Amino acid sequence: EKAGYDHFMLKEIYEQPKAYRDTLEGRLFPRYPWTYLPELSLTPERLKQFRNVHLVACGTAYHAGLVGKMAIERWARLPAEADVASEYRYRSPLASPETLVIVVSQSGETADTLAALREAKRRGAHTLAVTNVVGSTAAREADDVLFTRAGPEISVASTKAYTTQLLVLYVLALHLARVRGTLPDAEIEPVVRALGELPEQAESVLQQAGEIRGYAQEIASREHLFFLGRGLDFAVALEGSLKLKEISYIHSEAYAAGELKHGTLALIEEGTPIVALATQPELMSKTASNVREAMARGADVLGIVGAGSPSLSERQLTLPDTHPALMPAIAVVPLQLFAYYAAVARGYDVDKPRNLAKSVTVE
Ligand code: M6R
Repeated sequence: EKAGYDHFMLKEIYEQPKAYRDTLEGRLFPRYPWTYLPELSLTPERLKQFRNVHLVACGTAYHAGLVGKMAIERWARLPAEADVASEYRYRSPLASPETLVIVVSQSGETADTLAALREAKRRGAHTLAVTNVVGSTAAREADDVLFTRAGPEISVASTKAYTTQLLVLYVLALHLARVRGTLPDAEIEPVVRALGELPEQAESVLQQAGEIRGYAQEIASREHLFFLGRGLDFAVALEGSLKLKEISYIHSEAYAAGELKHGTLALIEEGTPIVALATQPELMSKTASNVREAMARGADVLGIVGAGSPSLSERQLTLPDTHPALMPAIAVVPLQLFAYYAAVARGYDVDKPRNLAKSVTVE
């Protein structure tokens, strides 16, 4: 059932190009109206009434929510917040009937996420579940549901569930933008086109697995490392860091690159490994200067950059060219492989990391 792969996690990483196709199938058009989400009960009138959006989830799904927040704010011009579900419930959230609350959950059974969903409903918000499991509690209880269509995810470490959550959130953000008239067609068109190209691009990133494996083997004996990035790259850095901790037990921290100098730079010494993401053209020079600061203190940097970027570090991976807003969907792939190969090099049970369960049904 692992189809020749050593672990479910690796199989699921390699299934991403197909999962991307399945997720997008029938949901995008190359021309107006661009998006098609007939499963939504929300009418255009109702979609126009929302005043704010809350994205609520745990772990990896929360990291997808962070990207969704940025896409919704940027394209649909709605104030959006992403929250960890176990915090959301207890902070008296400003959710009302004018709030769209999106819960993101692979399993649709995570206790904290379900509790947040119920809290949002109690406050009269319109709830929408983004989930992978048909018939799950979140799918049944939310007012609306969009399925991610990733196929079964067996490995505890979430991979294709995360990337397909990103894709659904991108389509939803475009849908909101189109209905609300906040993004001109000339700006929607390149995003829709780029979404369609993501499966092949994910494929081409997977072809760089050898290089990533080499780097993972080198750092496998280290006890801590950093992931750096700004904006969307910071959201991806958080996901890369979680993945690495979860299965390789190497301690890591994700930092907004500009924040490093406000304390954490003190931890950088000769040989400290850093994975630095710089996929956003308008942030490139700023991130590069933060990376230089770290290198001046001896950091050993692996750069992950977009096509056409100036060089960030001696050792770097170049991602295929896509719309900057979509970069997370391909930039995370090397980080998944990196965590996987580091865990394998350390001899751990990748699919069943210690202390963790696939679905967390206690609060
Ligand atoms: O099923 P869910 O998406 O609600 O699960 C949420 C988290 O428990 C989950 O994403 C967890 O962080 C993963 N094991 C990370 O790889």
